[in-house]
Amino acid sequence: MIYSIVKYGQPVLEQKSESVSEFDTPELQKLVDDMFESMYAARGVGLAAPQIGIGKQVAVIDVTSGEDPAQKIVLINPEIVEQEGSQTSEEGCLSLPTFREPVRRPRKVTVRASNAKGAKFEITGEDLLARALLHETDHLNGTLYINYISPLKRDLIRRKIRKLQKAGEW
Ligand code: NI
Repeated sequence: MIYSIVKYGQPVLEQKSESVSEFDTPELQKLVDDMFESMYAARGVGLAAPQIGIGKQVAVIDVTSGEDPAQKIVLINPEIVEQEGSQTSEEGCLSLPTFREPVRRPRKVTVRASNAKGAKFEITGEDLLARALLHETDHLNGTLYINYISPLKRDLIRRKIRKLQKAGEW
């Protein structure tokens, strides 16, 4: 099932999601499958459950956009355990369509999470994968990338969105 993506302005995007306590259930597997399907349909490389209106700590990532199924990552209750270096590049978010801004992030990161079966694992990513791991983990804590840009740029984006909302285009 393809969900529509919740856009900036909905409170669920700025709230901390609830941790998952029940694993290896058909419901959780279905949620994960639907999230991959919704992410590919929206041409994203990552999607967090709040972005489909579900306040649970579940996120999916595929920086190959479906090219390599082995690169599919499921993060449940993720925690950043290590980060180093820095990188700056343009970042976007399916919940803020059309906007992109340069965002400074650590260059390398290690995340500890569970998979849908409940098995704990650690994953280390660099560059784009590090950015995706951080961006999606942020979503589950109610943080959006625009929190990291200058207040001036953030206000500009908010104003543009308000205009789009008034025009019924958001
Ligand atoms: Ni996002």
